[in-house]
Amino acid sequence: MKILLLGKNGQVGWELQRSLAPLGELVALDRHSTLVDGGCGDLHNLEGLRDTVQRLRPDVIVNAAAHTAVDKAESEPELARTVNALAPGVLAQAAQAVGALLVHYSTDYVFDGSGNTPWTEADPTGPLNTYGQTKLEGEQLIEEACERHLILRTSWVYAARGGNFAKTMLRLAKERERLTVIDDQFGAPTGAELIADVTAHAVRQVLRQPQDAGVYHLTAAGQTSWNGYARFVVETARELQPELKLAVQEVAPVPSSAFPTPACRPLNSRLDTTHLSRTFGLTLPHWQQGVRRMLSEIF
Ligand SMILES: NC(=O)c1ccc[n+]([C@@H]2O[C@H](COP(=O)([O-])OP(=O)(O)OC[C@H]3O[C@@H](n4cnc5c(N)ncnc54)[C@H](OP(=O)(O)O)[C@@H]3O)[C@@H](O)[C@H]2O)c1
Repeated sequence: MKILLLGKNGQVGWELQRSLAPLGELVALDRHSTLVDGGCGDLHNLEGLRDTVQRLRPDVIVNAAAHTAVDKAESEPELARTVNALAPGVLAQAAQAVGALLVHYSTDYVFDGSGNTPWTEADPTGPLNTYGQTKLEGEQLIEEACERHLILRTSWVYAARGGNFAKTMLRLAKERERLTVIDDQFGAPTGAELIADVTAHAVRQVLRQPQDAGVYHLTAAGQTSWNGYARFVVETARELQPELKLAVQEVAPVPSSAFPTPACRPLNSRLDTTHLSRTFGLTLPHWQQGVRRMLSEIF
């Protein structure tokens, strides 16, 4: 089996290089890849992408690349749309043409953030910002063009590699006695490792049972606010690394309005993962488990 992975160096892409490797021959590309590496991996080059799929004829395409700079997307909507919507649309057409399964990631930002119950896959969408709109259009173009697709909507992604919210909180906790962190946005911090592992499992099942293709919500279990997440990071850091000198005494709650940003963000990012758990026979671990593990790795 041949698998084409796009966006190999992102948080999720990096972990997919590990989790997809045992499934078959993996051709992993990033935006700078050329024919020598296996093909064009630049999502801004739509014809290059189409040619790459036609030439490689993979059994599975996994697209982990995206324009994920949510605030920047407001000032470069055309670029965000090309990467998040038009490129997945081209991948979907190309996947359909060669009979491949297309795996793609989407986001809680396709919803408007109203209410306080977890969103199900059947709930109406209503993105609040350009990133969410372009990601939703990407989903729609895939659904229109490719019969066998897996669209996995996730939220609040972190990884041990590179920068992340927990690392920023730890740095600030060393420097300041008081942190102010938003307490009116709710979701589940979800590790790139978990997303990659579930992807590999789901790919194997959908290849055997094509009727299980479709849209799924994939996050760690439980929920918290950014403030709760920050407090957990500080408490766990103190527990795992007692010698660490943290100045912070208080992680104060503030509303989103305290940190105005170009892009409006949904308050309710909770995703209901029942459909995924039932279809694939999975038990998603609680968010604290993955964050604790990530902290253990970075110390
Ligand atoms: N991060 C989150 O909190 C979050 C939440 C919900 C859903 N998601 C979704 O989950 C998926 C994976 O996200 P992630 O957290 O792994 O994102 P990430 O770490 O920002 O990785 C995105 C990757 O896409 C690449 N990329 C951007 N523009 C490209 C282009 N024109 N051609 C090729 N590659 C390009 C980036 O490359 P460079 O490094 O070279 O820019 C980067 O490696 C995405 O679909 C995202 O929308 C993420």
